[in-house]
Amino acid sequence: MTELVKLKSISKSFGGIHALKSVGFDVRPGEVHALLGENGAGKSTLMRVLGGEMVPSHGEVVIDGKPVVFRDPRDARALGIVIIHQELALAPDLTVAENIFLGELPGVISHASLRKRAKDLIDRLGFKIDPGRIAGTLAVAHQQVVEIAKALSRDIKIIVFDEPTAVLAAQDAMKLHEIIRGLRDRGVGIVYISHRLEEVFDIADRMTVMKDGQTVGTVATSDVKIDDIIRMMVGRPISAMFPERGKRVIGQEMLKVEHLNAGRMVRDVSFSVRSGEIVGLGGLIGSGRTEVARVIFGADPLESGTITLKGKMLKPRSPKDAVEAGIGLVPEDRKQQGVILDKPIRVNSTMAKMSSVVNAFGFLKRTQERADVTALGKSLRLKASSVDAPVSSLSGGNQQKVVLAKWFHADGDVIILDEPTRGVDVGAKSEIYALVNKLAEDGKAVLVISSEHQELFGLCDRVLAMGRGRIRGELTPETYSEENLLGLSMTGGALTANQGGQA
Ligand SMILES: Nc1ncnc2c1ncn2[C@@H]1O[C@H](COP(=O)(O)OP(=O)(O)OP(=O)(O)O)[C@@H](O)[C@H]1O
Ligand SMILES: [Mg+2]
Repeated sequence: MTELVKLKSISKSFGGIHALKSVGFDVRPGEVHALLGENGAGKSTLMRVLGGEMVPSHGEVVIDGKPVVFRDPRDARALGIVIIHQELALAPDLTVAENIFLGELPGVISHASLRKRAKDLIDRLGFKIDPGRIAGTLAVAHQQVVEIAKALSRDIKIIVFDEPTAVLAAQDAMKLHEIIRGLRDRGVGIVYISHRLEEVFDIADRMTVMKDGQTVGTVATSDVKIDDIIRMMVGRPISAMFPERGKRVIGQEMLKVEHLNAGRMVRDVSFSVRSGEIVGLGGLIGSGRTEVARVIFGADPLESGTITLKGKMLKPRSPKDAVEAGIGLVPEDRKQQGVILDKPIRVNSTMAKMSSVVNAFGFLKRTQERADVTALGKSLRLKASSVDAPVSSLSGGNQQKVVLAKWFHADGDVIILDEPTRGVDVGAKSEIYALVNKLAEDGKAVLVISSEHQELFGLCDRVLAMGRGRIRGELTPETYSEENLLGLSMTGGALTANQGGQA
């Protein structure tokens, strides 16, 4: 069988970093080929070469048996190669419909017909999104759907999904998998990059694992187990994904919110988090979890209700107020809010602390800062040339680690983590769980928002289920299960005990 794509001995360097070292990779028609590897392994870079976005230092791209040289992404697109990027790349000020048909815009097409066609495409994907909405105002998950609709508006031979489900909830990920199976049945070649290994085993026909810019191997999914793949990726097995809950001492109430109301997404929300406690906020995407976090953090205005921090009433009017009072937030959308891309890692990771401390001894602090950040980077397995490298030069997962480092470095009492492990590899995930646990062991109150239910169950003492802006109920380890969490957040129904308890 002729491969649709064959990448031969591809190498690529950035300055001194050899991101790709003679990598080979191929995709057959009608297959889903997963590309796996730790953060910084070189997955996105390899796909940028395939998409004509990056010229390799060495090597050859062969499409349908013919060697090709791409001058830019348009050359690749002309051959039916489409990349759905890891970092969302919509034009935030244009509408959904305008984004989908960006290439055709200056023509004679009417806006009404664009919207109609956009609506048809999105309907076919099984989502409801108003084509007239400004793209930047959509939830990240829906922005992702628009990206996919945009890709499907063209003729495609090969499509690359670079961590498509990192921002999607479980049901939406399932819808996406339906779409992918449909494409596969039509003979499209699909490259699928994800750090959610269960999901990869569900959808992929073959898998290629990369490590440090090289391929470790290509295997058929039916021939391997998850543990084999983890060993290929990380170089060692991971014994325990989640830390032991036992060692934490649950103390005084740190954060208490009562009858919070803000817009449509925060309705009469009340809960509290104690020192040493890790509380989860679960539910569907769009259930109001991020909005609750933003109100507590002073990023969105509070309409009514009270926020109490260590017994003192707090009215944060801005994130600055919240940080000064001792609240930290690791935001969901790291590109928009979490990091300053052109600043070095060192500055990004210490920003939260700097804003509350007058940096009078700049130069002394700087030595300490460098040591702190280097240590933290090491424990998170941050892959970068130095702490002075700009964050924009890091791989997606490594950028996420910088956002986390920023708050692990800060000294607040309450830490809110919104999707903390999005896009992070399995090895680093277990490190992040250990660090979150450590924050709680040190007496901080931790609130975790996550769409990965197993992550909530593995990490939290209890999980609040949100639906339509309200807290619908609470799960404890005895009742932890996907069914209970989804059931509660959708209908607020009764709970059933789980089988044997959660790890
Ligand atoms: N424009 C760039 N300048 C400098 N270094 C870069 C650039 N792009 C990528 N790199 C480096 O190349 C290496 C591979 O990065 P890449 O983004 O391909 O990783 P990845 O496998 O996609 O990781 P992730 O799972 O985190 O997305 C990293 O060390 C990264 O820092
Ligand atoms: Mg990547």
